[in-house]
Amino acid sequence: MARKEEANPAETLPDMPAEENAEPTATATEGAGASAETPTDTVESKTVRLAAVADRASRCTACDLANTRTHVVFGEGNPEAPLVFIGEGPGQNEDATGRPFVGRSGVLLDQCLRENGITRKHIYICNVIRCRACVLEAGRLKNRPPTPIETDACSPWLQQTLEIIQPLVIVCLGAPAASAIIHKNFRMTQERGQWFEARFTRYAMASWHPAYILRLEGEAYEAARRTLVADIAAARQKVIEAKREPKMTLF
Ligand code: URA
Repeated sequence: MARKEEANPAETLPDMPAEENAEPTATATEGAGASAETPTDTVESKTVRLAAVADRASRCTACDLANTRTHVVFGEGNPEAPLVFIGEGPGQNEDATGRPFVGRSGVLLDQCLRENGITRKHIYICNVIRCRACVLEAGRLKNRPPTPIETDACSPWLQQTLEIIQPLVIVCLGAPAASAIIHKNFRMTQERGQWFEARFTRYAMASWHPAYILRLEGEAYEAARRTLVADIAAARQKVIEAKREPKMTLF
């Protein structure tokens, strides 16, 4: 008979116990990264510490996006999640609401998660940059990729988020997230779906960004969507395997 966690990921993911590693505290001055070790690692401490980092991020002026944003979109979800998803950056809907992945991309992502028995309360989700990058074109604000300066300026927030959560598995949605987490110049067509050891987790992989899938049509759309669903299934399975691995300790 199948093990319980393999039979129903919706029951398994939120039940995963917290890791016991010591973790750094976010003590950055505005926009700068810093860390210190604390012995506690409870849901409450993670929630409080994430909220403190989010509060500092809400006042961030480390790059020019501070001048055009409506909200800093810090990230949200389960602070104890073993599985973290990272996108590129907020779009119009996210900027308006202050919440990640609430537009069309978010709807598609939620569908793909649900097909794996996963909801937002099982995961944590955030972006490489936390303010909307956009450009005025023909009188309309259009999303644009973040510049390296903007990505660098925002990296302490991503770093502190992951240092607090300590995910077992990270799924990067799209090349910008993969380049920030896995390695520079990540090539989606060659490296999508492969597992990499990364700075903030033993297991990181990249899959198609939902916004990319939404730009496709017909069979190409269906195939890319199926791939994202399958990659999420692989990530879920990796969480189960990682939970069974012995902890890495020095002594
Ligand atoms: N695309 C992203 O990369 N992040 C969001 O939060 C929304 C859309």
